[in-house]
Amino acid sequence: MKQSCYNTAMQKISKTSVPPLIDPFERAITYLRVSVTDRCDFRCVYCMSEDMSFLPKAEVLTLEELDQACSTFVRLGVRKLRLTGGEPLVRRNIMWLVHRLGRHLDSGALDELTVTTNGSQLEKHAAGLAEAGVKRINVSLDTLQKDKFSHITRWGNFDKVMRGIDAAVSAGLSIKINCVALKDFNDDEIHDMVTWCGERGFDLTFIEVMPMGDIGNETRLDQYWPLSMLRADLRRRWTLTETDFRTGGPARYWRIEETGGRIGFITPLTHNFCESCNRVRLTCTGTLYMCLGQHDRAELRNALRDKTFPCTLEAAIREAISRKPEGHDFSVDRRREVIPIDRHMSVTGG
Ligand code: 5AD
Ligand code: SF4
Repeated sequence: MKQSCYNTAMQKISKTSVPPLIDPFERAITYLRVSVTDRCDFRCVYCMSEDMSFLPKAEVLTLEELDQACSTFVRLGVRKLRLTGGEPLVRRNIMWLVHRLGRHLDSGALDELTVTTNGSQLEKHAAGLAEAGVKRINVSLDTLQKDKFSHITRWGNFDKVMRGIDAAVSAGLSIKINCVALKDFNDDEIHDMVTWCGERGFDLTFIEVMPMGDIGNETRLDQYWPLSMLRADLRRRWTLTETDFRTGGPARYWRIEETGGRIGFITPLTHNFCESCNRVRLTCTGTLYMCLGQHDRAELRNALRDKTFPCTLEAAIREAISRKPEGHDFSVDRRREVIPIDRHMSVTGG
């Protein structure tokens, strides 16, 4: 690692002027996604195998360490934090971290604290999230049909998720539904999804299935459904007007004139959005991924945990950002084969 020389250089930087995190391609890093646990109470077929083995506790950052890591990123200019997983809300005492991070909203250092959840624990936690200053959440929901929901999530309870969504609405949280588009699974439901989200005032984002992790025989590519085709299907029924609305993420948004709702599309395979990438991802073990589609990473755990480590956390972060690549390596060739990244979504957190 090149960390030690970085360390010396960075220690010279005065504490009063904190230079922002700028990568080699002059992109400011203002968005951190943090996977607070690799565990989940669902086993979505495109994400996990049924007999997943999870990380040993000793390797997982404590909530205090996660707070320290996030707070350091905030000090270095991160304005938006998203907690993901696995399922972030299954982590024990997670609300302590959410409330703790809320202090950066109060101080104005952070613009937004958000959560991506499968909805299973929202009944219990929606009010707490709102109290901590969370305004918007993303809820993953691929189908509105109970039997299909059981099939795709394997362990999920549809009614519980619906009650969770109701609790989030009651708590005043804005909701965006994330729906993974899967051929021969939910292709017949997209209009229902648009109608349902429109009626409830939820934004909706369709996500193309990504080649993540090694999930045995269940090859996600069989279910690959390009969003360009999905959008063409939508246009047969709805009037879509392009908007310039952005949430800081890679999705581009259209307005559905009939419902007034917003609809977004995340197309990691067919569309290159790297040039505007402002984000990095931290796993629950302290690994920082500078790009979702690359293997390169930086281990921040030692800098966080080991007081004798010769490099401050700030220096380790700056060194990592200096290695952020220009773009990802996902590619779909003419035979529609994808070069997969052998890493589950539950590790890097979407
Ligand atoms: N491809 C696309 N989306 C995925 N997610 C999990 N695994 C994959 C995959 N292989 C989605 C979840 C959730 C978001 C965080 O990531 O459904 O909406
Ligand atoms: Fe859990 Fe989300 Fe993965 Fe489904 S996609 S198993 S809800 S982490």
